Amino acid sequence: MTQTIAAHGGTLINRQLTGAAREEALAAAQSYKKIEITNWTISDLELIGIGAFSPLQGFMAEVDYLSVLDTMHLKNGAVWSIPIVLPVDDVTANTLTVGETAALVGAIDQKIYGTIAISDIYTYDKEKEARAVYRTTELAHPGVKKLYERPDYYVGGTITLLNRKQPTEFAEFYLDPRETRAAFADLGWKTVVGFQTRNPVHRAHEYIQKCALEIVDGLFLNPLVGETKADDIPADVRMRSYQVLLNTYYPKNRVFFAVFPAAMRYAGPREAIFHALVRKNYGCTHFIVGRDHAGVGNYYGTYDSQLIFREFQPEELGITPLFFEHSFYCKKCAGMASTKTCPHDASEHLTLSGTKVREKLRNGEALPPEFSRPEVAAVLIEGLREKAPVNN
Ligand code: ADX
Repeated sequence: MTQTIAAHGGTLINRQLTGAAREEALAAAQSYKKIEITNWTISDLELIGIGAFSPLQGFMAEVDYLSVLDTMHLKNGAVWSIPIVLPVDDVTANTLTVGETAALVGAIDQKIYGTIAISDIYTYDKEKEARAVYRTTELAHPGVKKLYERPDYYVGGTITLLNRKQPTEFAEFYLDPRETRAAFADLGWKTVVGFQTRNPVHRAHEYIQKCALEIVDGLFLNPLVGETKADDIPADVRMRSYQVLLNTYYPKNRVFFAVFPAAMRYAGPREAIFHALVRKNYGCTHFIVGRDHAGVGNYYGTYDSQLIFREFQPEELGITPLFFEHSFYCKKCAGMASTKTCPHDASEHLTLSGTKVREKLRNGEALPPEFSRPEVAAVLIEGLREKAPVNN
């Protein structure tokens, strides 16, 4: 069998209990103090538990948290760019003690999703975190807004995953790193390129994916389906667009499709590093970083998410980034091209901003076929129409 790439930090973490051990842990957790967690934190808990966030075994203690903010490395030296933290309010924090184990309970459904062996309880500086992670303190930034809405304490400690959210749709595309790794090995792929996306798929995505696929064995199409900002296209609508494109325009034995159930941070460069490391955990050897990866508004330069990779040694990342320039359809070239390959004036290029695309789709307007495959745009328009509030 083909050997897959090592997980970040060397070992794929498994903090999930099953069978009798899970039953016992759940029974014991009934008597623990409770920490209520949001859907975002449930998603982080799950991703730690299944090893997607290897080498993390839990929510960050203060030493790791500060080390990530200041150096983009964990205290043990491993690269890590995004804080993975458990926020709690002061009332809850005051009831907890370092050394005890608490139950992590869904704030909405009161279900126990896991437990945490508490090793640290600390306050943090939101402005410092905002500057380090998002490069701004403006509340108009969706990541900064979320951060400022959080309660004032973080709790650190190793977690145990006991229950998972059950997907209501597309359950077959929720695969754990262990499963995607096994699938890549079965396919005999030695090299796999990961593709992150939170947007409807368009021709530029297809172009850079297929350029990458020319030099590796397989493409791992891995759209993010966790929490996104309100005006992004809902994940279920996007899912249909990916399926239409894959079924019609990609060779079946060269693409593997599964979802990434993480929350979107919109942290641009730092999130690009995080996205790459996590895809390594899913078994990718390469990762696509195009223009303004994980960006929002004008907070980051077009290529900042590529430039940040220079701050690390290739060995400490362990996954190879594949950088792509801004791609578009060029009327003179009569095909897809990029600023790197096309000599023509920008007036020949067909480009649409994400905001413009979302606006057009929501208004039921067709997108130019050179921008988006017509059958893809059709499912997006249809999906959004079904979701639109009915006006009488
Ligand atoms: S992201 O927030 O998940 O990065 P999006 O889904 O738009 O947003 O992008 C997915 C990937 O495709 C990212 O690596 C992004 O940089 C890249 N990308 C999107 N559009 C283009 C484009 N026109 N040219 C080059 N790269 C692009």
